Amino acid sequence: MIFIPTSSLKPGMVVAKTIVSSYDNSPLPLVTKGSVLTNCIIRRLEERSLSGCYIDTEFTKDIEPGEIIGQMLKKKALNGIKKVFDEVSVTRKISMDNLSLVTEIAKELVLQILESDEILIDFLDLQNYDDYTYRHSLSVAIFSVAIGHKLGYSTSLLMDLATGALLHDIGKTEISIDLINKPGRLTDEEYATIRLHPEMAVERLKSGHSISSFVLNGILSHHERFNGTGYPRGLSGTDIPVYGRILAVADVYDALTSVRPYRKAWFPDEAIEYLVKYRGIHFDPEIIDAFLKIVVPYPVGTMVELSNGCPAIVIRNNENKMRPVVRMFNVEDDIPFREVDLMNDKGYEDIYITNLGYNSRLIDYNAFVARENIMPEDISDGYLGKDGG
Ligand SMILES: [Fe+2]
Repeated sequence: MIFIPTSSLKPGMVVAKTIVSSYDNSPLPLVTKGSVLTNCIIRRLEERSLSGCYIDTEFTKDIEPGEIIGQMLKKKALNGIKKVFDEVSVTRKISMDNLSLVTEIAKELVLQILESDEILIDFLDLQNYDDYTYRHSLSVAIFSVAIGHKLGYSTSLLMDLATGALLHDIGKTEISIDLINKPGRLTDEEYATIRLHPEMAVERLKSGHSISSFVLNGILSHHERFNGTGYPRGLSGTDIPVYGRILAVADVYDALTSVRPYRKAWFPDEAIEYLVKYRGIHFDPEIIDAFLKIVVPYPVGTMVELSNGCPAIVIRNNENKMRPVVRMFNVEDDIPFREVDLMNDKGYEDIYITNLGYNSRLIDYNAFVARENIMPEDISDGYLGKDGG
């Protein structure tokens, strides 16, 4: 399968991974695996701010992006996060039952992540969920646990880290969604409201429960910056609790690589560039260094442009994450593609990735449409959402 950005999706493409809806309590997915895209479905994906989806094509059927946690746990985690956010938005506190649910999800996340032979952020996997808030909370938890593991944390500290990450933005449930999603510049007053969310989260979480101070302090300080220009307390350097410093890196990376109502998703390599640029300024340099060891700039299943002018798809990552194994297209007229290991294959030492292919002029996404499957305009087969096609 191949990951194609929403802006390049075409009617007739075949969905390779089910997209789960978290907008309603329906057990039905938004789009099921094997569905043929129509203009209507593509519009739905745009409306739900999905940055893209995995598509099956003749040349990419054997390519499977990595999965750091299983589909069952993803679904359980997203439903659990939604349940807790819904509860806090109504009651302004978290019940013991829901706190237990979060800690259970945190535990399962950590145990599954630790089962991986090598913990790598080599996927755009969570893109197959349609609600930013819950998807973001889960991504931040996965990234934080991966960073904590790289830093040598014990399993129980990783569970605390996951719990804090799942709940880090719960203070936003008290801020209007219109303000959170507001395109363009915020007024000083609006920005001041947004800045209250770490304190609001701690206020709601600490009442009556024994959430560890590590977790609460991490949540409180996830918007602090290493140079002291963050909020709410303007702490700097190692005065910022280490959980907060880890959450900050995971939070910003995921936010940048997600579509927001006010901007497109950044590509992983661009987001990594941003983190490196602000290493030691906004972010703890040691935590950035740990993150760089686990994050993959060109995840499996993404299109890239090569320095020889050929488009290619990443099929496997190498020890040197800048030089994966790729399937290179347009090699010669009678050869549709060739597999090349950009790190080890002789004769390809001078070929490197110039950029991710989302905006590439070289890549013709139309080539990935299964033409025999093209459906008439707006036939909504495959769309099973609440409000129909
Ligand atoms: Fe936040």
